[in-house]
Amino acid sequence: MEKISKTCDPRSKNSIFSEIIPKEPKPTEKCLLNFSDRKKPLELDILVSEDGTRFIDVRNLFDRTGYCIYDPGFTSTAHCCSTISFIDGIKGSLQYRGFKISDLVQNCTYLEVCFLLIFGHLPSKNELKSFEDAVFREMVVHKNFIHLYDCFEKNTHPMSIMIGAFGALSAFIKDSQFLYNDSDRIATAIHVLAKMPLLAAFAFRTSRGLPLIKPKKKYSFVENFLRMMFKNQHEKWKLDTRILQTIEKILIVHAEHEQNISTCSVRIASSSISNPYACIAAGLASLWGPAHGAANEAVVSMLEEIPSKEMIPHILQKVKQNKLRLAGFGHRIYKNFDPRATIIKESAQIIADLLGNEEDKKLMQIALTLEQAVLNDSYFIEKKLYPNVDFYAGLILRTIGIPKDMYAVIFAVSRGIGWITHLIEARSSFTKIGRPRQIYVGLLNQTFKKMEDREETPVHPSLIDDQKPFTWPKFN
Ligand code: SDX
Repeated sequence: MEKISKTCDPRSKNSIFSEIIPKEPKPTEKCLLNFSDRKKPLELDILVSEDGTRFIDVRNLFDRTGYCIYDPGFTSTAHCCSTISFIDGIKGSLQYRGFKISDLVQNCTYLEVCFLLIFGHLPSKNELKSFEDAVFREMVVHKNFIHLYDCFEKNTHPMSIMIGAFGALSAFIKDSQFLYNDSDRIATAIHVLAKMPLLAAFAFRTSRGLPLIKPKKKYSFVENFLRMMFKNQHEKWKLDTRILQTIEKILIVHAEHEQNISTCSVRIASSSISNPYACIAAGLASLWGPAHGAANEAVVSMLEEIPSKEMIPHILQKVKQNKLRLAGFGHRIYKNFDPRATIIKESAQIIADLLGNEEDKKLMQIALTLEQAVLNDSYFIEKKLYPNVDFYAGLILRTIGIPKDMYAVIFAVSRGIGWITHLIEARSSFTKIGRPRQIYVGLLNQTFKKMEDREETPVHPSLIDDQKPFTWPKFN
């Protein structure tokens, strides 16, 4: 990659990113905030987003009034402007750089969508070919990097390997810590995109005690990923194209999704100008939870524990008693349906019919029955709980024979492009470091006590080493 030596601000016209860097909307409306202890109401600007959503600009609220806002989980709070993707939670629509997810799934490959996300336009034929070649060139790691995998035991969860490995990339790729110019930005995006499937496949092979498989130029990005994971070193590689097309769809619909928690983790981590690969490791860490990227694994475990469709009313009763959360249902933004779930559900049914065994088909029937029961139950309708992208994705992966502990990893392989695109965007302007406030409700101004004045209290059992000291057997 030809290196542009000088710094190039992505907002300047010399940068290829200048057209897609977010520009904060000009305030077009005002609102008045009345305080019981102030005579004059406070006038605040209102910023209006492209879709018409209104945001009260409170960034100077504390400086002007000494007041803060409280919004656990950021349910009503925007922390940035972005041009990458947009979710309409009411209409149930998702767009990547203004293109509908349904159009992208039907017409593009995953790498084509990655190009769109990074550069902001659909690639020409030549652009896509160069991009594919550039990604393949980077599907390599330093020879010493491989030894990292030796320290993991067989049966280690691949996500724990991924988090360690991706963070370790920062030790091997030194050139683009600060993303000073376009070539750094593009190089880092290509590195993240190319290393993700490599590290994911290595994590899987390591967790099964299998030898690592290297990518080959003749295969596509997605097929290389599947082959590096599942190639049996004694047999010729062959892959059912229906599986390849389905995984391509899964990667496209999971690629990007506004300010979800893992993307937010990457953006917040990046706001300290930290190493990009270390920031991606923060995204991996956050993705691993069953409330987010590991929900697909939780869905399949939940369905596998439902012995028959007849048990579903009993399960829903437990949910209503707050004894259980339905994995794969609910979403912070979608309040009618998740358009990705619609796409994935169709693929899940096709794959189950084509390739599913009796167990897969039974699980699919339980999933469909559970979905219908939820959609027709007033409790869930009132709470606006619908199947999200994870509800059917796990079933597809299970039917194809991908082990459960790889589901979140596959989500990560897909979402890596979303994370790095947001990181580049977040670095495009002087980023204020992400540092929320808190409502402190702890103790204050305690009187200090010297050791000798403190009462003895029982030591917590967890601090006591109750291990029986190892006694050497008597050899003599
Ligand atoms: C992903 O943000 C993204 O975009 C994420 C994602 C992406 O592409 O990046 O779309 C991917 O993470 C999808 C979500 C996968 N997670 C799950 O399927 C786990 C189950 N879902 C929930 O934990 C929950 O719905 C969340 C985490 C998805 C959303 O949480 P919210 O918006 O904070 O909602 P909440 O937890 O405040 O719940 C609101 C109410 C509560 O009831 P009350 O306290 O008001 O009485 O709805 C209930 C919750 O108890 N509720 C559920 C439920 N989800 C919410 N009740 C039963 N089962 C559920 N799944």
